[in-house]
Amino acid sequence: MRIADFALERYFAHWEFAVKHLLCASDVEPYPMAGLLELADAETRALWDDLRLGYTESTGHPLLRREIAGLYTTVESDDVLTFAGAEEAVFCLMNVLLGPGDHAIVTWPGYQSLYEVARAVGADVTLHELREANAWDLDLDLLRRQVTPATRLIVVNLPHNPTGMLPDRAAYAELVALADEAGVYLLVDEVYRGLEFDEADRIPAGADALPRGLSLGVMSKAYAMAGLRIGWLATNDRDLLARIAAFKDYTTICSSGPSEILAIIALRARVTVLARSRGIVGANMDLLDAFFEDWADRFEWVRPRAGSIGYPRLTAPGVRIDDWAADLVEAEGVLLLPGSQLGHPGNRFRIGFGRADLPEALARLESFAGKTLR
Ligand SMILES: Cc1ncc(COP(=O)(O)O)c(C=O)c1O
Repeated sequence: MRIADFALERYFAHWEFAVKHLLCASDVEPYPMAGLLELADAETRALWDDLRLGYTESTGHPLLRREIAGLYTTVESDDVLTFAGAEEAVFCLMNVLLGPGDHAIVTWPGYQSLYEVARAVGADVTLHELREANAWDLDLDLLRRQVTPATRLIVVNLPHNPTGMLPDRAAYAELVALADEAGVYLLVDEVYRGLEFDEADRIPAGADALPRGLSLGVMSKAYAMAGLRIGWLATNDRDLLARIAAFKDYTTICSSGPSEILAIIALRARVTVLARSRGIVGANMDLLDAFFEDWADRFEWVRPRAGSIGYPRLTAPGVRIDDWAADLVEAEGVLLLPGSQLGHPGNRFRIGFGRADLPEALARLESFAGKTLR
């Protein structure tokens, strides 16, 4: 397989561990290992203490699949398959579901693997462009026109990376009906699910919404445990899941044993874990709201409704975001992600607000803005 470089990952490979402040990270401040173990109940503590480091069940630890199934309303353990992160799940799913002659529609701008892997396996990919002028919302009339007889898969990422867009229930129901009537699979990348600013805004999971719906989840974002590399697919389509499981024999075979147990602990304690994440994100959003109000003549954004990232635009006349971000990281050690890294034109950048150092990073950015944009 030939596949284009994953631009964002190459950018992070260069910068992530070299800068002081990662103000474009998409995850939440990593959960401390010691704190997680304190959340273990008697059963999971024994699982951890008695763990033997062998291969694990290739579909995922039965207790882990049970905990994951508990996140949905129509899903049982056998409707869940675990992976090394969400990334492996995307790779396996696209390889199994798509090939030459198949058509897929994928929201854009967005997480590159959602369309790049589909292209690499030979599918014809149509990007469903989200536009700032439309508050980054799905354009369901456009989407309807993009469906062809060859369409096999629609991919949406909700809450959305990088804009924080989340449709209301009516728009989401329309999307689900559209996919259902067209008889296509609907993959809902829900890796930011659980980080809705108002919990009442949470939409039904893809796996629960329609028979050919697939939910993509992960421990990395809302659960703040990217280092576990535990992700999953959930769907009521067990035949498809079985074919994906067979493909996984050629990637990782099975999950990391320690990570599985830690994920079980975290999911059982998810009320605590998610409350911590929402607390960090909420406090940081207050600071960003104040910043964007003070700097309304230099930056604009559609305020996210969920997640840990947003996608503002630098409006200062004559200043290119790529240049400004390069100067910012050099002067202050604060990293932004210009839209060019997403292959998206315009003067926008991704900002992350899941990390604990946001107050200091934003103060540094503001001080730099004071010197360069006024
Ligand atoms: C929308 C989206 N999907 C999938 C992933 C992959 O998640 P992971 O790196 O945990 O595998 C990411 C990571 O940034 C993401 O933003």
